[in-house]
Formats: sequence, C-alpha cells, structure tokens
Amino acid sequence: MASVPDHSEPVGQGVRVPARRHGRVRRGLSWVAEHSFVAMGGRWLYCKQHLAPGRFVERFETVRVPGLDPGLEGLTIAQLSDLHAGAFLGAGDLSAVVEAVARRCPDMVVITGDMIAHQWKESLTVLDDLARLESPLGTFAVFGNHDYRGRNEGRIAEAYAERGIRFLRNECERFELGDGVLALVGLEDLEEAKEVDLGRARGPVQPGDVEIVLCHNPRGASAIAGAGCTAILSGHTHGTQVDLPLLRRLGPQHPGLRLDLGPTTLIVSRGLGVVAVPLRVGVPAEVVYLQLKGCSAL
Ligand SMILES: [Fe+2]
Ligand SMILES: [Fe+2]
Repeated sequence: MASVPDHSEPVGQGVRVPARRHGRVRRGLSWVAEHSFVAMGGRWLYCKQHLAPGRFVERFETVRVPGLDPGLEGLTIAQLSDLHAGAFLGAGDLSAVVEAVARRCPDMVVITGDMIAHQWKESLTVLDDLARLESPLGTFAVFGNHDYRGRNEGRIAEAYAERGIRFLRNECERFELGDGVLALVGLEDLEEAKEVDLGRARGPVQPGDVEIVLCHNPRGASAIAGAGCTAILSGHTHGTQVDLPLLRRLGPQHPGLRLDLGPTTLIVSRGLGVVAVPLRVGVPAEVVYLQLKGCSAL
C-alpha cells in the first residue's frame, strides 16, 4: 500500500496529526499580510483571476468500484474546498463556481473544510451562494482547521443547517440507491478539533457500502484507508498555493492530486480560496467531480 508522503506518526484516535508549529505567529503574519493586500484591491484581483467564469478548473476523477450496484453507477459528487471566506472571498464571489456545478448536475455536493480565514461570521458571507448548490442527495460539509478559530464552529454548523447544508462531525449519512448504499462519513479536523473519532464516525457503515470519507487534512489518509473505504476527499493544501521553490514549503505539504492507498483512492482538492496572499501561482482554483464506475475487479 502506498502512503501519503507527508504523513507523520499518527496519535490519539489513530488519525490525528500534530498541528503545525508557530501557529500563532503564522496567523498574525497572515492577518497583517491580508489587510495589506485588501487595501490594494486584493479581493477584486483574486476573484477576477481565479473565480471568474473560465478561470477555475473543473477536475474529473473516476473511482472504479468492483461489483458496484447499478443504483450507484455513475453517481457523481461535486467537491468544493478551502473557500476561506474573508479578506479575499465574500458575497457573490462564488457565483460562477455555483453555476458551473449546477450545469454538471451532480448527485451530491460536498465541502471539505476551511470555510473561513479567521472569524466564524466570514462563513455567512458565502452562504447565499452555497445555498444555491442543489443536488438530489444534498450538500454536506466538514470543518477544516481554520473553522475552529474562536471555537465557534458550532455556530457555523447551525447557520448552514438552516440553509440545508449539513456538517458531518464524526458522523455518517447513508443513502440507499437501488440495491446499493453510499455511506458518507465526515471527520472533524485532525489538527484542531477537540475530538476526532473515526470509529464513531464509521459506526453506521455496513459491509458492502460504498464508503466515502470527508477529511479536510490529507495527512490522516493512510490511517483512514487502513480502516477500509472506497475514497477519501481532502483539501487543506491549496496545492501549495504558490508553487515555486522555497515558497511552496510555507504552506501544508501537498501529497498530490490523487493517490492510490491500496483499495482506497485519496483525492486532494486544490481548493477555491487562499490565505495570507491573494495569489495562486501554478495552482488553479478548482472544483473536483468524483464519479463512481463499476468494474469486475481491480
Ligand atoms: Fe485551507
Ligand atoms: Fe486547512
């Protein structure tokens, strides 16, 4: 089985990872940088360059599942990630993304964390846009490390639930489709949550379910894959955001867009938003579409 290159020794529930060092210093520098760029029109520039129609990528990933039930054949999940609502992304800035997703008619939409940059109320600025994401099975989300700032993530979950977007907090939702079942498992963030409980989250999963795990930080993927699931959807890395020597090391390490971890496929989104600087260099903003396809054997 392959492993995620930047995976460190698991601790706690087996999937937790240590938070990056110098967190407060990083957050302080990020806040100062953001406010400097805001004064220079950073939000307008970023959205024009990366979130306008035709400026972001739609990436299509097929996951082959042996013996897939016809009820799940072709099922498509649209993944948004790392919005980081705040200084560089706000009300109306996701309009083109939402319209692009609507044109693809996915069966489900998921958001894999980092809704905000710094404050929970930033999540409300993009809620009107996100509430327009309609699909037969609904929109589900998990939190990323940024979302725990001030420990107000519960307020984000409440506000989003009122608009039909459900956060899975160490929880599972099962969907019976034909004679098949899709089990969607959502984990709390591996760095910042008070509790990460993979066992509880996977509790309702039954043998034969096609299990998709939403986990913001891909560093836990090896441990999650060891428990057995079809796919893991992550974000967090922004694809390094600025893909230049030396600078790419400033953010979370990026294990790659798609990795095979034995029978489990890890898909890592490069996200839609940014932190610290309104720049993406060599790394497009993106929406990922995961589609299930049956096969006889891997
Ligand atoms: Fe992020
Ligand atoms: Fe993150």
